[in-house]
Amino acid sequence: MSAYKGFASRAIHHAYEPMDNDASLTPPLHLSSTFVFESAEAGGEMFAGERPGHIYSRISNPTLDLLEQRIADLEGAEAGLALSSGMGAITATLWTLVAPGDEIIVDETLYGCTFAFMRHGLTKFGITITHVDMTDPENLRDVISDKTRVVYFETPANPNMRLVDIEHVASIAHEAGATVIVDNTYATPYLTRPIEMGADIVLHSATKYLGGHGDVVAGLVAGRAEQIQEIRLVGMKDMTGAVMAPFNALLILRGLKTLALRMDRHCASAQKVADWLEAQPAVSKVYFPGLESFEQHGLAQKQMSQPGGMIAFELEGGLQAGISMMNALQMIQRAVSLGDAETLIQHPASMTHSTYTPEERAAHGISDGLVRLSVGLEEVEDILADLAQALPAGEVAAAA
Ligand SMILES: Cc1ncc(COP(=O)(O)O)c(C=O)c1O
Repeated sequence: MSAYKGFASRAIHHAYEPMDNDASLTPPLHLSSTFVFESAEAGGEMFAGERPGHIYSRISNPTLDLLEQRIADLEGAEAGLALSSGMGAITATLWTLVAPGDEIIVDETLYGCTFAFMRHGLTKFGITITHVDMTDPENLRDVISDKTRVVYFETPANPNMRLVDIEHVASIAHEAGATVIVDNTYATPYLTRPIEMGADIVLHSATKYLGGHGDVVAGLVAGRAEQIQEIRLVGMKDMTGAVMAPFNALLILRGLKTLALRMDRHCASAQKVADWLEAQPAVSKVYFPGLESFEQHGLAQKQMSQPGGMIAFELEGGLQAGISMMNALQMIQRAVSLGDAETLIQHPASMTHSTYTPEERAAHGISDGLVRLSVGLEEVEDILADLAQALPAGEVAAAA
């Protein structure tokens, strides 16, 4: 438990004491790959798990340790683990938890590489992947069995913003003894804390909002201490080696200091952009949890403190209109990734979700015309003006 109550205070101070670190305001960067044993016996005891301490930076490192304590505190978890990327976090976690013959039940929509890892990767090793439309959690009850080891979903999901009721899904999954894993990349712990709602493990691409500046690729996991230790020693140390570099841990610690501030701005601007997009004749559909027209608006209000900074939308003219609009943008950058200071736009079907076949995209609710917008930290008027000049001429309604 942190000494501070507020999220922003904990994101800045939790688990760090300058006076224990040569009065350094900023935590030290421990680049050491290996650590010295006081005696041969002490080294042996550390390997046997009988004595605390760092051994080698593919297992643990003091700079990563601070970040791990901080994400655990912010997610309301017992322990955290820092990995080389979001995919490193996902693969290390699942390699630890599943064995041939096990089943993982996942929602219909997943980030493209997570989908590829599960459907085209894990299935090669005798793991069954079953998709269930978790927007109605009761669908899970029909398929879950004693073979189900893990129930896995994103909320909001990348790219089409579907939400999943964490509490409801977790209660059904736990009745069957399954571990519930939530990819919380889109919401961040500032908006949603899945563990407090019953999830067992939370995962992040820390590359996104947690880092926040588009200058680092990183992943985080949080959960119960025993389970995190298993992921550290099996999935991270032995099966993937996907450890985070110490310098990257400092960049994420720096990003966390401004997470609350940035998320307030991302969310407020995204609400304005979504309201504006919805009023445009050229726009046929906007998917954003903060809109009353959003099918799961009620669930968003229940489990998100704010609607987030991500928007998906479709244009009347379909894919071709989307491509023309993207090419006409001047300030908004055409790029994958999200959660950066810069507003970013991309086309999931040809970019982040091209790992799905066209048939799979159609079956999993990712239309070819869908455009994904990560609303940045620029002045919202400039974001709106750029979108307005890029939409088909004569089809722009006045700002709301
Ligand atoms: C929801 C989600 N999860 C996981 C990942 C993978 O993270 P990384 O790119 O850090 O490996 C991404 C990347 O875009 C993502 O959007």
